[in-house]
Amino acid sequence: MEFKIQHFDSLSSTNDSAVELVMKGQAKEGLVLVTSEQTKGKGHGSNRWESARGKNLTLSVILEPRFLEASDQFFLTKIVSLALQETLQKYLPEHTIRIKWPNDLYCGDKKMAGVLIQNFLKGAMIEYTVIGVGLNVNQEEFVSDAPNPVSMKQCTHQDIDLTELRDEWLQILGFYYHELQTEEGRNVISSQYMNHLYRYRTVTKYQDSNGIFWGEIVDINSFGQLIIQDESGNRRTYDFKEVAFR
Ligand code: BTN
Repeated sequence: MEFKIQHFDSLSSTNDSAVELVMKGQAKEGLVLVTSEQTKGKGHGSNRWESARGKNLTLSVILEPRFLEASDQFFLTKIVSLALQETLQKYLPEHTIRIKWPNDLYCGDKKMAGVLIQNFLKGAMIEYTVIGVGLNVNQEEFVSDAPNPVSMKQCTHQDIDLTELRDEWLQILGFYYHELQTEEGRNVISSQYMNHLYRYRTVTKYQDSNGIFWGEIVDINSFGQLIIQDESGNRRTYDFKEVAFR
């Protein structure tokens, strides 16, 4: 897999720029938009993504996974998270890096990276995907009200080379993207994703629209919904943002 890097000094949001290219028919598989600064970095929902200029990785990758059915789009979340998990674990061998469903990267109990994926469908298949990644690398102070951010430097106390880190992640992403094209590869991806899932099979306090309860994550279905088994043995199924850790 060949990636083509386009570097910008400042953009409003790499995801917005990548989506614009898709809309204009100018998107190409493997194009990566990287910026030193985002003036309007997007998080999930109405959240903003905080990133100090020149300190972190803020980028969007465009892929054309036309072989992937729309109903299988959660596989994209899996490979992006896994590639981040593997990269971060290599850099931070003393720490445990986990994937907090669906695609936050946690170092211990703190968030080190966030992912924003925007898919474009053609019939029942995916035509384009824009994979936005914000990874906290060398930033030492966070000023927004993001609940629990942490950077790699806060763990290692050393500056990390952004280009090397980016290329390492892209290489692993390319590997998993290739694996996505066989059933055997998909099975490996799914089991690896579960292996690295934050609080998997760990009894934890949760809150949903009905209140607080104790339960444990037991599965994720093919649509990417989270399955939590509560104390009474009932399996509850959740979409993103329908349940939270307490
Ligand atoms: C989250 O809220 O966890 C998702 C954060 C995603 C942030 C990245 S930074 C690069 C890309 N461009 C954006 O505007 N957002 C994503």
